Amino acid sequence: MPAQHTRRAVLGASIALAGTGVLTACAGRDVTADHSAMNHPAPSGTTVPEGYVSPDGPEVAAAEQRRGAGPEREVTLTATPSRLDLGGGHTVSSWAYGDRLPGKEIRVTAGDTLALTLANHLPQPTSMHWHGLALRNDMDGVPGLTQRAVEAGADFTYRFTVPDPGTYWFHPHSGVQLDRGLYAPLIVDDPKEPLGYDKEWIVVLDDWVDGVDGSTPDAVLQELTGGNGHSGHAMQSTASPASGGPSRMLTGATSELLGGDAGDVAYPYYLVNGRVPEDPSAFTARPGDRIRLRIINAGGDTAFRVALGGHRMTVTHTDGFPVRHTTTDALLIGMGERYDVLVTAGDGVFPLTALAEGKKASAMAVLRTGSGAAPGASVRPKELDGELVTADRLSPDASVALAAREPDRTVRMRLTGSMEAYDWAFDRKPYTADQRHPVKAGERVRMEFHNPTAMWHPIHLHGHTFALSGGAAGARKDTAIVLPRQTLTVDFDADNPGLWMLHCHNLYHAEAGMMTVLGYRL
Ligand code: C2O
Ligand code: CU
Repeated sequence: MPAQHTRRAVLGASIALAGTGVLTACAGRDVTADHSAMNHPAPSGTTVPEGYVSPDGPEVAAAEQRRGAGPEREVTLTATPSRLDLGGGHTVSSWAYGDRLPGKEIRVTAGDTLALTLANHLPQPTSMHWHGLALRNDMDGVPGLTQRAVEAGADFTYRFTVPDPGTYWFHPHSGVQLDRGLYAPLIVDDPKEPLGYDKEWIVVLDDWVDGVDGSTPDAVLQELTGGNGHSGHAMQSTASPASGGPSRMLTGATSELLGGDAGDVAYPYYLVNGRVPEDPSAFTARPGDRIRLRIINAGGDTAFRVALGGHRMTVTHTDGFPVRHTTTDALLIGMGERYDVLVTAGDGVFPLTALAEGKKASAMAVLRTGSGAAPGASVRPKELDGELVTADRLSPDASVALAAREPDRTVRMRLTGSMEAYDWAFDRKPYTADQRHPVKAGERVRMEFHNPTAMWHPIHLHGHTFALSGGAAGARKDTAIVLPRQTLTVDFDADNPGLWMLHCHNLYHAEAGMMTVLGYRL
């Protein structure tokens, strides 16, 4: 495990390199993939913009100091190639945290200091991003922006104060590694938990392709982008994946709920807690138990519509933050989003079904409180077609409502691109690590996302939890769905200095270029 001073020295080196511009020589993914380039002069003249807070700058350290430093929780985690049993006789070779799918949850209490050492046993560089946490910028886990990638065979200790209670998760921020098995929940307990419940059920949803008939997420990206995987390079048009495996391109799948195209990838499997619906994971409770479900969408390209057969759900949180309790039959969850719900368990065996929205498939787990056979894999609880809650229908709990305030600055962005060209971007500019949308500490910032594309996009901002629909009335979120031909307005307080990714949480859109950077001005 590297000592604290070693880690700081490594970070310092990465920032110094950033100044030479080599990190941005080739945009996005290549920063992590071609780390050898970091040791050589920049082939391009790109430079990192000046006048912005640096991830290892004093502003970041000062913000961390204000968070305090509670008891240290030490965790070690290995990212490793792994054989994973998805149930139903399906075993795949993939990559996972600690040989499990999902990775075992990490549980800490708000205010704790998490000290997690990631050992990289993968054949390529990786990183760890703490999705949804307002943590110190240099621990945010974005190679080429906030740190150097963790090289194959190396390890890195992420050490930071965990600010807010709630349901979070972590995953790599390196290429399409997330669409392998590299994801796990991060549960932050509230020292003064106001909710009363008997049991907790963590439910992680995923769409799965890795290791099935030779497919990998990298091959899928290559197929979608027509063989280059990177906008700005010469296009070759190959209709079938370079791997020679089956095509995974999804065309013509639409969803009324999503207002247009449902997704780009036809996954062979949809999973709840790492299992196919034919051989589901089961959660056991007693009739009458109040169960808190923490539902996380770890998928790459799939929105899930979720319902528990025979039950109404009371939504209590989204993206870690409490909302005014709202009862519903079903929820719509985009990639990166989380919902916490309470249910009072009935007596029997019930399907928790996650419909892959618009994709004619579903995932399932089972709630068991009595005897009886497990429901069939294709069961469609009527609740799925009942009342549905989307984030815009929720109000924040009074304790977390953003105070009413006029924005000091409005950042407007267009979500651009198409499935055919696979040129997803903000304002037609594919991601480069030197992009900066400036904000200033202390400002109330409004962001307006206009989506003229034919597809929905789950937009995620690192390091902040914004308020939907611009202000006090909107639920707090870090990831929000922008439907086609709609504009989403969100407000946040710029109170966490650094360089923060803003991107579509459709992994393939992000990798095609739909990412950019919000930078705090000095
Ligand atoms: Cu789950 Cu950049 O995020
Ligand atoms: Cu998108």
